[in-house]
Amino acid sequence: MIILIGNQKGGVGKSTIACNISGMLVNRGHDIILVDSDEQKTTSMWVEDRRAEQPTMVKINSVQKFGDVDDALEDLNKRYEYVIVDAAGRDSRELRSALLVCDIIAMPFRSSAPDLKVLPLMEQMVRNSRRVNNKLRAFAFINSAPTNTQGKDAFFARQAISECNEIKLFEITIHDRRVFRDGMSEGLAVIEMNDDSSSAKLAKEEMENLLVEILNDEAV
Ligand SMILES: Nc1ncnc2c1ncn2[C@@H]1O[C@H](COP(=O)(O)OP(=O)(O)OP(=O)(O)O)[C@@H](O)[C@H]1O
Ligand SMILES: [Mg+2]
Repeated sequence: MIILIGNQKGGVGKSTIACNISGMLVNRGHDIILVDSDEQKTTSMWVEDRRAEQPTMVKINSVQKFGDVDDALEDLNKRYEYVIVDAAGRDSRELRSALLVCDIIAMPFRSSAPDLKVLPLMEQMVRNSRRVNNKLRAFAFINSAPTNTQGKDAFFARQAISECNEIKLFEITIHDRRVFRDGMSEGLAVIEMNDDSSSAKLAKEEMENLLVEILNDEAV
């Protein structure tokens, strides 16, 4: 199964989510590979930090692929149970070619109005990809929602997404929590972190629920 974490918008949490999903899947014993198709190499650096600083953690396979990545992803999909792809935050060849072969695209969005402006562009991209990839399932969800606004921002953002024809909305909203940033700098998924704060517990729950939504839909 090819899981693409993508959005034309930068800084919405694509790499953070791709690393966390990968971390959760390997901890459940799945055979996965994390594909970094962003020249910024955020996910590759996370894997590198993990290898260097977290020797007791389960190893995560990773590879960098740039340009037209569709053939490479199909090949990896034959060899691994799950292929998780982190695509660059722009209208890139990597994002467009990954959309041609992935089973699902999960798009993180921040809840601010400027971020949501790319929704129609993503919808158009999904529509075009479906002409070639008719199995493509497309979902969006809110990431980094503020925890101090009684959910108002996230409410309006969710409403905007739910009005899209091509993109469905996940139930889960992921909130802005420090533990996500700490995990990225320590080479850990949040579920692996030794942090018992209530915020960390909520972050772990949110990620678990996101994964359930990504995988549950496999049967649909
Ligand atoms: N839920 C969250 N809570 C707190 N911080 C977060 C959360 N999600 C992402 N971040 C932080 O936001 C910043 C951007 O996240 P990330 O690098 O994952 O985004 P991206 O979409 O991959 O960006 P780019 O488009 O540059 O590749 C990082 O500092 C990351 O640690
Ligand atoms: Mg990134």
